[in-house]
Amino acid sequence: MRIKYLLPLVAMFAIGCTTSGNSDDVDRRVEELLSQMTLQEKIGQMNQVSGGYQFSDMIREGGVGSILNVVDPVEINAVQRIAVEESRLGIPILVSRDVIHGFRTIFPIPLGMASTFDPAIVEQGARVAAIEATASGVRWTFSPMLDVARDPRWGRVAEGSGEDPYLDVVMGVAMVKGYQGEDYADPTSMAACVKHFVGYGAAEGGRDYNTTMISERALRNTYFPAFKACVDAGALTLMTSFNDVDGLPSTGNEWLLSDVLREEWGFDGMVVTDWNSAGEMVSHGFAEDLKHSAELAIKAGVDMDMMSFGFLQHIEALIDEGRLSMNQIDDAVRNILRLKFRLGLFDNPYVDESLAREVAYAPEHLAAAKQCAVESAILLQNRGEVLPLRDDVRKILVTGPMADAPFDQLGTWAFDGEEAYTVTPLAALRKEFDVVYEPGLFFSRDSDTRGISAAVRAAKGVDAVVVFVGEEAILSGEAHCLSQLNLQGAQSELIAALRATGKPIVTVVIAGRPLTIERDMANSDAVLYSFQPGTMGGEAIADLLTGRAVPSGKLPMTFLRDAGQAPFYYNHPMTGRPNNGTETLLNDIPLKAGQTSLGCTSYYLDSGYGPLLPFGYGLSYTTFEYSDIAIDKSCYSPNDTIVVEYNLTNTGKYDATEVVQLYVRDYVGSVVRPVKELKRFERVELKAGESKHCRFELPVSDLAFWNRDMEYVVEPGKFGLWVAGDSATGEAIDFEVR
Ligand code: BGC
Repeated sequence: MRIKYLLPLVAMFAIGCTTSGNSDDVDRRVEELLSQMTLQEKIGQMNQVSGGYQFSDMIREGGVGSILNVVDPVEINAVQRIAVEESRLGIPILVSRDVIHGFRTIFPIPLGMASTFDPAIVEQGARVAAIEATASGVRWTFSPMLDVARDPRWGRVAEGSGEDPYLDVVMGVAMVKGYQGEDYADPTSMAACVKHFVGYGAAEGGRDYNTTMISERALRNTYFPAFKACVDAGALTLMTSFNDVDGLPSTGNEWLLSDVLREEWGFDGMVVTDWNSAGEMVSHGFAEDLKHSAELAIKAGVDMDMMSFGFLQHIEALIDEGRLSMNQIDDAVRNILRLKFRLGLFDNPYVDESLAREVAYAPEHLAAAKQCAVESAILLQNRGEVLPLRDDVRKILVTGPMADAPFDQLGTWAFDGEEAYTVTPLAALRKEFDVVYEPGLFFSRDSDTRGISAAVRAAKGVDAVVVFVGEEAILSGEAHCLSQLNLQGAQSELIAALRATGKPIVTVVIAGRPLTIERDMANSDAVLYSFQPGTMGGEAIADLLTGRAVPSGKLPMTFLRDAGQAPFYYNHPMTGRPNNGTETLLNDIPLKAGQTSLGCTSYYLDSGYGPLLPFGYGLSYTTFEYSDIAIDKSCYSPNDTIVVEYNLTNTGKYDATEVVQLYVRDYVGSVVRPVKELKRFERVELKAGESKHCRFELPVSDLAFWNRDMEYVVEPGKFGLWVAGDSATGEAIDFEVR
């Protein structure tokens, strides 16, 4: 029998939750108010509707607990006045909005924020979003999205941190801290909503809303950690997901919402459904009708219904019929009122109507958005060091459908960002170069090739060509899934035609997901990938192309050679026949070959084994050398901390930042373990020629996982550890845990 080290599930990121005064005081006020409420008023609190003025009568009668999708402070104050001054108990309305990567000042899409590997700038981005949104009266955002996503066909990969559970934890916690600030009750604090609980990113085939089949162990090892970490960090609310996991829609899953979330994790925040996800349990064939769906959702542990109206219509009858108890309703209402007290809404329900315009696009907000966009861009290729553009490059052709697309560079879920404030790459580059602009194609899906010849003609008279391709904002995000991941329309033809001119070709991809761009890379000298970079994207890209800034972003998802490889992720479980580099590909197979004559390892006959680019990958204008990587012992006990030291030298010509990554592998487990797991990362800044001696500290307890007996343990045995610039390089250093 192996000895295992059972670990108490200590908060991975217990960062001292933000407080809101005395919690006894909040509880007392909640109970006092609850005792005065009629059943109708309680049901009203559990009801969230989309809109403002049109619900005035319902609000006056106490029939609405929260509204979404209203951002005009005048309208917000008006409906708030009705709730506070004209409803019987004066309970304020909670105003919510999808503020996903900025409110007015739009930051890169969350996948781009994750590419920075910089939680500090991500936290700052969330703070900026909170300052701008709360100035309009929005005190609750439906962010961060914590869905681990390993299939780029799924449109919502844009909204999360990509494929890695640890990166997801770090970025999720940073966002929660940024939104909620130091004190929940501060008027600039906006409640976070961690979503979508759970497994939504594992939708079968990358088709949105689709079923998922995730074991409890995989939930706990991969899909839960970011939710748990954000709960520990004080996230105030959580949203259920549309999908079912193993046959149970999340919105009706009592094990998830009560046993795990409330009992195991001690969550005392508020649970909201996704948009009509309670009602959709009828379409799932899980509930007989809307009434049954309300019953199932409340029994499972949902507090607030977003837009199914089932709670409003049926709770009373469900209580009369004994299908729900008053205690169940009271518990839900307590969670809602607690949130409103914590946010200080009872004491401070209104917003200063002039503030919103004053704070929008403040210079420091734009500066942070630009820094985030700079850090998020990933240099994928730089043949002949064509980037940064040299001083003798004066006249450039700017071409491609994303060069001047202010709406599309904002990305998905950017409802409140305004095109007029967006700086496009074309506008920014015009300040630097003698620019010839010939779009070639007018939008990313444009397959009319007639404009390409004009771009090719224009290329002949310039020193370099910068071609902006990618995806319109509408091609990613919710319900925008794709089965093919190549550049849309005639964009690849545009790049190929430009290639034939013999000019240096710099391709900048502005997109909402990892695309399959192998052919386009072959036709380009340099490739810079920018997940839709937001308001300041143009200036950020201009800084990177000219060398005023040096790329430092790294891939938060594996880049595939072909969509047929999806799902593909670096930290997959070890297979019994891993590919050993000997692939017999389609055209190498002799005629009438016997069944067992091939490699008999895990790979595709057409696209081979490996992806185009691994997780964590990203180049710089400089080069980095890792040396003297060492750990302090060869054998550790469970309470030890592994000290990892390394030297990093900037061996090139530019001051730059490297994202150093630490991976481990648990060689033998009671269940099959991932080939590698990211455990730490750090952005290390180095001047040209400079060396730094750096260290990571990794508690052995961070090697724990949910094992065969569904216990969270560190299993003793042999481990490997890597310190490298991506998930595919470096040499293993082995150690033991005893
Ligand atoms: C999405 C959620 C979003 C909600 C409210 C739903 O369609 O799945 O992520 O927060 O709408 O807009």
